[in-house]
Amino acid sequence: MNRSAADRIIVALDGMAPEQALGFVAAVPELRWVKVGLELFVAGGPDVVRQLRDQGKRVFLDLKFHDIPATMAGACRSAARLGAELITVHACAGSEALRAAQDAAMDSASAAGHPAPTLLAVTVLTSWDAARFASELAIKEPVASYVPRLAALAASAGIGGCVCSPLEVMALRSVHPEPFALITPGIRPAGAALGDQQRVMTPAEAIAAGSSQLVIGRPITAAQDPGAAFAACCAELAS
Ligand code: C5P
Repeated sequence: MNRSAADRIIVALDGMAPEQALGFVAAVPELRWVKVGLELFVAGGPDVVRQLRDQGKRVFLDLKFHDIPATMAGACRSAARLGAELITVHACAGSEALRAAQDAAMDSASAAGHPAPTLLAVTVLTSWDAARFASELAIKEPVASYVPRLAALAASAGIGGCVCSPLEVMALRSVHPEPFALITPGIRPAGAALGDQQRVMTPAEAIAAGSSQLVIGRPITAAQDPGAAFAACCAELAS
C-alpha cells in the first residue's frame, strides 16, 4: 500500500459507540488517521482519544471550538496535550481567540512531547443554505465570498488550515498555498452512495483540486469490507 496515499485519508468514526470505534480501528490496521467528532467524544471522552493513540492512530479531534479567547485557549491546550494533531475551531470566534487557541495548542503539545498540532478553521458549515444563512444571521455577504473571508481571517491569525467542501478547495488553494492545510469531507469514490452529501468529489479529484487530506466516513465505515474500501481509496490516490 502506498504510504503517502494512506496518510491522506482520515476516516470519520461517526455513529459508533466508543467500543465499536476502537473495534473498527483494530479491524482495519492499515488506517493511519481517524476523526473523532462530537458524538464519539461526548460518549467516550478523552479516554477514547488516548486509546486510539495507543493503537498507533493519528487523531483529528473535530470538536469545532467556538468561545471566548481564554476558553478556546484552554480547550486547545487540553486537546493538544491529549495528542490530537488536527483540531477544529470556528473562524468566526475572531482573531484574538484564534491566536490564543493556536499559541496554547503549540505550547501544550511541545510541553507534552507531541508533534506540533495543526488547528483547522471551520468557515461556514455546509449545512447552511445561502438564503437561510442571509436571513437568519442577517449576514449580507454571499456565502461564496464569506468563506474565503473567514479563511483569510484564520490564516492571518496563524491558523494552519481550513476544513472546506471539495468545491471550495481550488479557490482557497489559489490564495493559500501549501503548507496551509485544506481538509475536505464530502468525498465519494466513484459509484459510492451519496447519502446526505450533495456536492461531492472522488478522492483523486479532491486531491487534484488542492486538498491536502480527505475525510471519508460511510464509504469506508459502512462498507461490507472496510479494509478493502480503504485500500481501494488508497489505490485510487496512488494511481
Ligand atoms: O460519511 P461521510 O463521508 O459523509 O462523513 C463525512 C464526515 O465529515 C462527517 O464526520 C461529517 O460530519 C464531516 N463533515 C461534512 N461536511 C462538512 C464538515 C464536516 O461532511 N462541511
